[in-house]
Amino acid sequence: MKQHELPAEAGPIGVFDSGYGGLTILEKIQQQLPEYDYIYLGDNARTPYGTRSFDVVYKYTLECVIKLFEMGCHLIILACNTASAKALRSIQQRDLPVLDPERRVLGVIRPTVEAIGSLTHSRHVGLLATSGTVQSQSYPLEIRKLYKDIVVTAEACPMWVPLIENNEHNSEGADYFVHKNLNELLATDPDIDTIMLGCTHYPLLIDKIRQNIPSGIQVISQGELIAASLADYLKRHPEIDLKCTKNKSTRYYTTESTEKFTTSASIFLKENIHAEHIDPE
Ligand code: DGL
Repeated sequence: MKQHELPAEAGPIGVFDSGYGGLTILEKIQQQLPEYDYIYLGDNARTPYGTRSFDVVYKYTLECVIKLFEMGCHLIILACNTASAKALRSIQQRDLPVLDPERRVLGVIRPTVEAIGSLTHSRHVGLLATSGTVQSQSYPLEIRKLYKDIVVTAEACPMWVPLIENNEHNSEGADYFVHKNLNELLATDPDIDTIMLGCTHYPLLIDKIRQNIPSGIQVISQGELIAASLADYLKRHPEIDLKCTKNKSTRYYTTESTEKFTTSASIFLKENIHAEHIDPE
């Protein structure tokens, strides 16, 4: 791997996603931890990751992680299930020791899985995620490590991210695909009492999802779980907390056009933001 100049001084917390989905996580993190500085990086030029191979997701994610390190981050949250499933372990085990063993990259799957145990009563959980996350088997494998009695049924929803990224999540097309995927999920396991949104884009479809399932089934999105887990992590790791600056600022970067990001991000955040372009390679 080529040598990278990484600034030693403290910096913002990095939040990464393949596109806009990670904004649903960033928003909850900012609410829980408002004093910190953040850099959000969306790899919009190469989204979606959900249908890409392990090698490609790993390569893209690593490139973005290095960019965030170069911008001063010491702690990065992969606010993307697909990247957490397909790239996190390699980055933690193979790349961090070479790049800088003192920096940290955390994913969103483990904290989500930890919460599942206390949420389901029937012990039948449904997972909605990208094809990549479903194929990786990361959720069932992690759940089995912690809760042997929980049955997980996963449904890949390959159309959902493109619909959201193209601002079509309120369209009839979105109705069709949400209905179809939820029907398939509940036909496979009618005992599901908890549905996990295992993709950070999906909270934008939460109303439609609720309209398509019986009211007794709860739908869990990840934002608050990840925010609580990060707050706990920073408390348990004061040495990392010291490397995170606290001036209440957030900067947004996209690998796509800044106009497109600014317009679409405001749909996710319900506020206007200013974005800058970055080339990931
Ligand atoms: N938001 C990402 C996730 O949580 C995936 C989006 C994509 O397919 O790029 O999985």
